Amino acid sequence: MLAHKPPMGWNSWNTFTKNIDEKMIMDTADAMVETGLRDAGYEYLTIDDCWSEMERDGNGMLVADREKFPHGMKYVADYVHSKGLKFGMYACSGAKTCAGYPGSFGHEFKDAEYFAGVGIDLLKYDNCYHPSSPDMLRYNRMSLALKATGREILFSACNWGRESVWTWARSVGAHMYRSTGDITDKFESIRRLSESQLENLPMSAPGCYNDIDMLVAGLYGKGNIGFGSGCTDAQYRYHFALWCMLMSPLMIGCDIRNMSEETKKLLLNKELIAINQDEEGRPPIFVSANNGLKDSIICFRHLADGEFAIAFFNPYDRDQTMMLPYVEIGLDPLCGYGFRVRDIFTGESLGVKRDYFEAKVPATDCRVFRAKIVKI
Ligand code: GLA
Repeated sequence: MLAHKPPMGWNSWNTFTKNIDEKMIMDTADAMVETGLRDAGYEYLTIDDCWSEMERDGNGMLVADREKFPHGMKYVADYVHSKGLKFGMYACSGAKTCAGYPGSFGHEFKDAEYFAGVGIDLLKYDNCYHPSSPDMLRYNRMSLALKATGREILFSACNWGRESVWTWARSVGAHMYRSTGDITDKFESIRRLSESQLENLPMSAPGCYNDIDMLVAGLYGKGNIGFGSGCTDAQYRYHFALWCMLMSPLMIGCDIRNMSEETKKLLLNKELIAINQDEEGRPPIFVSANNGLKDSIICFRHLADGEFAIAFFNPYDRDQTMMLPYVEIGLDPLCGYGFRVRDIFTGESLGVKRDYFEAKVPATDCRVFRAKIVKI
């Protein structure tokens, strides 16, 4: 089964846009191994838009840009595979890709053959320049074309949440589906996109996950979607931890050949990754903040091993004490049970908490805990 858990990997778009080439991709494959990202679960290396020539060949086939990829795409795919990674590429359901390269509309079956010939393991399928037809039909068409190749290819549908994609993405065979417009390297964007999906998460489950968009953690304003100095480390922590709690696919967008120590530590955080990759893929229960700070996110998630994840996200620019009153999750104070809590960032055991659990959360930052239910 593909996408039993939220897919993890790296994608070229957020940092490199059209400035992609064979050497950068191969160096990135090396870096995925050397930094430990591959072994932490980031298995897909995906080349986004701007990889092809502007014209198809005489047989109507897509052609990789001859300057950027002088040895052709199969050569790159083989190299990526030799590193124990999976290889992803990008196409679009319209006449052109979003950056204006040849699109797959009317060429779906040929393009699927091309991609299978290259040996891809993931196809990100975008939604620009299409004629007016239901997105569902165009996405199912490419899904069928991929199936017809006989190759197992993870289908990453990217229609930015149009036409309530969460209601049909699973049905068309997508393994992940973009539910939002493009992320930018700003805290406001992280907040807006994630908050827009809190109610859609019940559709996210093994086999097909809601993709809130690729990660901006570690960009610090560099690359295609950077603004000024980007976000702070605390804000990237908020972002990454939230994507983990919400079971979004984790597609790194920064230049992993030159990551800061903080970025590396964050992206390799085993406990957060384990929450994201939890076997059962259960969406969290959201609890309203009881202090009037309505944009805070307080969530409680059942995990497959019988434990729970509790997370507090403070989007405000001042520190605040956040609280999970157990009655809000159905645990009455008289029942005689509470939670033994451990901070996943510090590893510190906080003991058994009864009736409620509260923690100080710095401005635009988060705290994440593992909890076990115990008799008091
Ligand atoms: C759209 C997608 C992005 C990226 C670009 C490429 O905007 O949403 O993720 O793939 O196209 O042009």
